[in-house]
Amino acid sequence: MEKLLKELTAAYGPAGHEEEIREVIEEQVKDYVDSCYTDTLGNLIAVREGAGPRLMVAAHMDELGLMVTHVDENGFLRIARVGGVVPHILVGQRFVFSNGTAGTINHEKIDELKELEWSKLYLDIGCSSREEAAEKVNVGDVAVYDQEFKNLGQRYLGKSMDDRVGCAVLVETIKRLPRQLPQEVIFVFTVQEELGLRGARTAGYALEPSYAVAVDVTRVGDTPESLVMDVSLGKGPAVKIKDSSLITHHGVREIMFSLAEKNGVEYQREVLERGGTDAGSIQLTREGVPSGVLSIPCRYVHTPSEIVDKGDVENAVNLLEQLCLYPWKEV
Ligand code: CO
Ligand code: ZN
Repeated sequence: MEKLLKELTAAYGPAGHEEEIREVIEEQVKDYVDSCYTDTLGNLIAVREGAGPRLMVAAHMDELGLMVTHVDENGFLRIARVGGVVPHILVGQRFVFSNGTAGTINHEKIDELKELEWSKLYLDIGCSSREEAAEKVNVGDVAVYDQEFKNLGQRYLGKSMDDRVGCAVLVETIKRLPRQLPQEVIFVFTVQEELGLRGARTAGYALEPSYAVAVDVTRVGDTPESLVMDVSLGKGPAVKIKDSSLITHHGVREIMFSLAEKNGVEYQREVLERGGTDAGSIQLTREGVPSGVLSIPCRYVHTPSEIVDKGDVENAVNLLEQLCLYPWKEV
């Protein structure tokens, strides 16, 4: 699992540029599924056939990034965010483009941190003129966090745990599933979640699932003076009840609660006050899709240094495997 997560978090793949991460995932799953293809928007769809209902399981491949908006005459790049990046955590951070060009973020003179607006930030890629910079990057190119994956013992530290840890949970589950399944399970590695749950919307429409579960990270309330939230690292995966994109379907979350209890999987109940997941857009396709979310608790979501717990990740795989084996029925 560590090797897989390290490989997945290392792959380049900001929203709209998921080619590299998609290839890495396809290589991992293609021998374990009945079919595997990429749709129009770029979602990777891996199908495990079976009789009975159709379960769609989604995790997003895309990560956050910074897009070049302008190159000035001294070779400094101005940037705009791709996804929910906040400026005050960027200063001093390293970023890297798909062609390997690296740089660091800094800012114009300010008196207070709250003056740190996007217009004050620039990316320095070590060039001294516009011409020199133009040989390396173009307006519209996207850079991602340049951070190494670390094993901290019981926890993993790295960039893009959101949502490569979810992708890792899907990959691992696909590999563990038995040959015969009591339902069809379609694993979808989605694109452009960070820009508004976009890939999941078209995939949800096309695949017509009987029900759906997204696997994504969630925030925690266990750090110094953190927000009040009833989810902690290391107490098991969380079954979402609500976030800003959906109220999870009662029946779908009840089967997750009961499978967790039956199998002795420690889990948490999650109410996230801000943030959404792919399930939010899948539930609104066609006449509506009963949808739920299996969350992996994660500290410092959307920063270059996100932390997840090994036990939580392992138990998310255990619970997702159970979910694939016991079809939920509307009563
Ligand atoms: Co995110
Ligand atoms: Zn996410």
